[in-house]
Amino acid sequence: MEILDKFRLQDKVALVTGAGKNLGKVIALALAEAGADVAVTSRTLSEIQETAEEIREKGKKALAIPLDVTDFAQVESVVREIVSEFGRIDILVNNAVVRSYKPLLEMSENEWRGVIDTNLTGAFLCCKAVGPFMVRRGSGRIINISSVAGVQGIVNHTAYCASKGGLVLLTRALALEWAPYNILVNAVAPGTLVTRHTKETLEKRSEGIPLGRPGEFSEIAPLVVYLASDASTYTTGEVIVVDGGLTQSSARRR
Ligand SMILES: NC(=O)c1ccc[n+]([C@@H]2O[C@H](COP(=O)([O-])OP(=O)(O)OC[C@H]3O[C@@H](n4cnc5c(N)ncnc54)[C@H](OP(=O)(O)O)[C@@H]3O)[C@@H](O)[C@H]2O)c1
Repeated sequence: MEILDKFRLQDKVALVTGAGKNLGKVIALALAEAGADVAVTSRTLSEIQETAEEIREKGKKALAIPLDVTDFAQVESVVREIVSEFGRIDILVNNAVVRSYKPLLEMSENEWRGVIDTNLTGAFLCCKAVGPFMVRRGSGRIINISSVAGVQGIVNHTAYCASKGGLVLLTRALALEWAPYNILVNAVAPGTLVTRHTKETLEKRSEGIPLGRPGEFSEIAPLVVYLASDASTYTTGEVIVVDGGLTQSSARRR
């Protein structure tokens, strides 16, 4: 196999959560461009329909199905619908997120639970629903979108950090558990990402980043394609940080 062929996702089927906008959308389109048919989900139908339309324009099949990842009955039913339409799920990208940044003493129990429910429990529920199909096929890829907030603390981010740190260890533990089934489980931990910004916000968001700028969604998607492809058949349990050097520079300051 030629080296670039290893990155191709021809005949693969992917499920991406939170695929209606920003990183999830860019990942879904990148997987399609690499050859996969893609099921795109989030709670907002109009947004995932747009993503699906762009995937079809790339010549791949797409399904847009509304899904709240915190509801296991919905997750199971969506997974069954995808398998009945496409016959399988090879790749699961857990990307859906909600955020609540505030000091712990100002955070309500509901706000805390909301963040953990979507970012961590949502990923667990999707793994639980997709897992049996991957186990039966003896192959699969799970890619959890964590964050630098999952590998280091950030002030006023306790719930978000706990959810993203939980996702890091869910990744490492599940990689061990499902290695016998050839299901590879990895995480990607992006740093600060932006698409649109003013000069002022760009300066503010660039602070402390050795590369001197925030990243773009398009700088994360190729890694997801790699982790979904035959180029990464010996990579599991990894958490790959993509942050322009941010965590390296803060590690040196400690
Ligand atoms: N942007 C960054 O700077 C950055 C940096 C590091 C890591 N990340 C990680 O990258 C991922 C994507 O970030 P983003 O900035 O692109 O997020 P975003 O723009 O806030 O989009 C989040 C997506 O998740 C969906 N979602 C939220 N709650 C959901 C639920 N309960 N069930 C299903 N879908 C749900 C949203 O759609 P609905 O509301 O319609 O459901 C939306 O499509 C996240 O995991 C985030 O932690 C982002």
